[in-house]
Amino acid sequence: MKQRVLVASNRGPVTYQFGADGSLAGQRGGGGMIAGVTSGLAALAPETDVTWICAALSDGDRVVAQRNGAGAQDEDGVPVRMLDIPSDTFDRAYNNVANSALWFLHHQLFDTPNQPQFGLAFQQDWESYLAYNGVFADALAEEALPAAARSAEQQQPSGRLRVLIQDYHLCLAPRMLRERLGDAARETGIAHFSHTPWAPPDYYRMLPAEVGRAVLDGMLGADYAGFHCRRWAAAFLDCCADLLGAGVARTGGPEPAVRGLVGWVTYRGRITEVAVQPLGVDAPALRERARAGDVQDHVGALSRAAGGRKLIVRVDRTELSKNIVRGLAAYRELLVTRPQWRGRVVHLAFAYPSRSALAEYRAYTDRVRELARQLTEEFGTADWDPLMLEVKDDYPRSLAACALADVLLVNPIRDGMNLVAQEGPVLSERGCALVLSREAGAAATLAADALLVNPYDITETAEALHRALAMSDGERRRRSAALAATAAADPPARWLSDQLAALGPGTGA
Ligand code: F6P
Repeated sequence: MKQRVLVASNRGPVTYQFGADGSLAGQRGGGGMIAGVTSGLAALAPETDVTWICAALSDGDRVVAQRNGAGAQDEDGVPVRMLDIPSDTFDRAYNNVANSALWFLHHQLFDTPNQPQFGLAFQQDWESYLAYNGVFADALAEEALPAAARSAEQQQPSGRLRVLIQDYHLCLAPRMLRERLGDAARETGIAHFSHTPWAPPDYYRMLPAEVGRAVLDGMLGADYAGFHCRRWAAAFLDCCADLLGAGVARTGGPEPAVRGLVGWVTYRGRITEVAVQPLGVDAPALRERARAGDVQDHVGALSRAAGGRKLIVRVDRTELSKNIVRGLAAYRELLVTRPQWRGRVVHLAFAYPSRSALAEYRAYTDRVRELARQLTEEFGTADWDPLMLEVKDDYPRSLAACALADVLLVNPIRDGMNLVAQEGPVLSERGCALVLSREAGAAATLAADALLVNPYDITETAEALHRALAMSDGERRRRSAALAATAAADPPARWLSDQLAALGPGTGA
C-alpha cells in the first residue's frame, strides 16, 4: 500500500497563467525548494500517495483554487491543492512578514540604522501571518484527519501520516496543525524544513519578543525540524534555549555532523528532533536535461559570444542575499589589479527577477544594472564585451552557462544551501573552478574542493577569481569532479526519504 504524505509550501510545484484565448495553462514553479521536493517526490512516487498544498499565487491559480483545486496537478501528476488566501492577507504575510522580516533576519540583511521597524503596521502584518498559517493548518488538518482516523481504526498506531511543511512562510503551521488534530496528532508525523539560514540569538532578538517566541514555538509543534547545514541547526537550538528557555540537548562528537540528528528540544512536554539534511542534486536527471536541444542551442550561442575567452558565470535570482553587487565589484577589481585578464575573460551574470513587489528588490536590480553599465563603459572595447548581464529567467540558458563555465562565482552574504554551486560542477563540460562564499550552507559539504571567500571581502574574492582563472586544467577538472560527486551524494530522493524515515513508519492511503 502506498504511504500517504502531505507537503505544504507557499510556492507550489505548478502555477497557472491565462493564455490569449482565456484558457489556463500550468507551468512549473521556480526555486530551489520546489526543485528539491519535486525531484525527491518523483523518485519516491511508487511508494507514496502525495497531496501538495500551496498558496494560489497568480490570478490563474486563484481560479483553480476557487474550483476547490479540482484538476490541479504538477508535471509529475502530484495532486496540488491551491489555497485562495485573501490577497491583502497574503500580501502582508508573504511580502511583509516572510520576505521582509524573516528572510532579512535569517540572511542578516537589515540596514540596522533604519530597519527593521516593528510598529503598528507590523502588528497588522503579523495578524496576517497568523491567518495565512491558519489557512494552511486548516487545509492540512482536513486532509490529515480522515487518514489518521483510518490508521487508528486499523489499529496500526505506529503507521503514521507524514506531513512535510516547508520554509519560513509556514513557521506557525506545525503547532497550529497539531492543535487542530488533537488526539489524531498521535497518528501523524509532522516535519518542518528550513531552506534558509537561521539567525543566531543576538540577531534573532531583533524580532518583537512575542513574535520571536511564537515562531520558535510554532516550529516546535513539529516532530522534526530540518536544516541544510549544522550552523543553521545549531543557531536554531541556541534560539530555543535562549529565547524560550526550552530544554536543548545536543548530540556529541568532535566532527561537525554533515547530516543526521544534531539535537533535541524539549518544550511544552514534547520533543522535537533537530537534524541536518543537505539537499544536493539529481545528477543523472540534470545531465539528461542539459542534453536537450534548447540547452544545446544556448551552449552554441554562448560559446560564440565568448569567442574562445574564459567564462566566469553566476546564476542567481536578483536577490539581496546573493551579493551580486559585490560580485561585480570583485570582477572590476580583478580587471584593475590583474590587467592580463582584460580581453581574455567574459563574465556572464544571469540575475533573474525576484520579489519585485518589494522596493528593496527593485532598487537592488537597478543598482546591479547600473554597475554593469559602468563596468562595460570602463573596460569594454570595440572587440571585447567584458560582461553580459541578463535580468531574465531562462532555465535552459542558465544550464548552458553552467556547462560552459571555467569559473563559477557563488558569493552569497548568507544562503541556506545554494543549488547553483552544486549544479555547476555536475553540468560542467571541461570542469569548473568554484569560488564559493563561506556563508553558503553548501560550503559545509563543498569546502574541500572550492575556493572559499568571505563574501564581504571584495579583494579576496577578486584574488580567488584570479586563482580560479589561472588554475591548471588538471586541478580544475579534479576539483570539479570532486564537487560534482559531493553534490550527487545527497540527491533529493535521499533528502526526502531521510525525513520521512525520521517521522516513523508511514500509513497507507
Ligand atoms: O531559499 C528558500 C526558498 O524557498 C528557495 O527555495 C526559493 O528559491 C526562494 O526561497 C523562494 O522565493 P520566492 O518564492 O519568494 O520566489
